[in-house]
Amino acid sequence: MSFSVNIRQFKTSIDVEMGETILSAALKSGVQFPHGCQSGNCGACKSRLFSGDIQMSPYSDFALTKEEKESGLILACRSVPWSDCDLAYLEQDDLVTFPIRKLNCTVKEIQQFTHDIVRIFLGIDSGGPFNFAAGQYAKVSFDKFPPRDYSMASLPADDFLEFHIRQISGGLTSTHANKKLIVGETVSLEGPFGVSYFRENHTGPLIAIGGGSGLAPIKSIVETALEKNRKQPIHLYFGARDTRDVYLESHFLNLENKHENFTYTCVLSEPKELTKYRTGHLFEAVSDDFNSLDGAKAYLAGPPIMVETCIKKLCELGIRQDDCHADAFYTEAEKAKLEVLT
Ligand code: FES
Repeated sequence: MSFSVNIRQFKTSIDVEMGETILSAALKSGVQFPHGCQSGNCGACKSRLFSGDIQMSPYSDFALTKEEKESGLILACRSVPWSDCDLAYLEQDDLVTFPIRKLNCTVKEIQQFTHDIVRIFLGIDSGGPFNFAAGQYAKVSFDKFPPRDYSMASLPADDFLEFHIRQISGGLTSTHANKKLIVGETVSLEGPFGVSYFRENHTGPLIAIGGGSGLAPIKSIVETALEKNRKQPIHLYFGARDTRDVYLESHFLNLENKHENFTYTCVLSEPKELTKYRTGHLFEAVSDDFNSLDGAKAYLAGPPIMVETCIKKLCELGIRQDDCHADAFYTEAEKAKLEVLT
């Protein structure tokens, strides 16, 4: 048995099998429904339900507040229909919908950034052109390993793709990328995905926060803004555990010298020795630096707990929650834990 769900933007209805979520059915039908985490944590699939009955499995308050739920909003990734439905996803400002493509690529260069983060450059052999917005991600497959989500660190205009991949303990794909990958190896890729992309029309201050390899999409966003000669203040905060985890520092210090509207701050959360860097948590550094961030926009990428604590602090400083854009990245182990909880 299935229900018919009308998605207003696409002027089309999809069939959703009993027990299936609306997002999953939409993606299966080839509909480019906005989404991010697919687990009720980011809010990217937020939609207005005009008619019909749905049941939602658990989700985070960040993704959908009580007030939003009461006003008729739902999360498509958590919603299972119990009748035919009519809905529309919430329009993002500066909505971008690039076609999702499957690409064949070749590894052109590999650089070991830190003890557990590798930078890889890919050339596109076929399946392009690959259009994406700064901040988006792709599903990347190496050899026989399962595909994983990695953000593009390169700029949309670059003729190569750059990824930063952190080795996760027990992670087959990330271990292969860090330890075994060789120049010339073929890589397949599907994308782009994600809604935490650079909003070009916003002219207020830009706060960019990246933790660990979450620096990748933040790099793409910041450099795209600078390349477009944007004049608003642009503040990049990079969080790492200790000195050995810091990468691309001289790159961003050079950018700081070149652009007077750009600042770079590195914050260490667990330094083992006296350090030249600021210490503490990213949300503390941001709150020490600003009394108010009214009118600013924030882009965040990194461990979910870092993203959540920073967004809470940013909202206290006056940024609207809708102006905080984040694709929180969960490891496979974290995703499995979430599935158990839900
Ligand atoms: S995709 Fe639905 S909350 Fe993230």
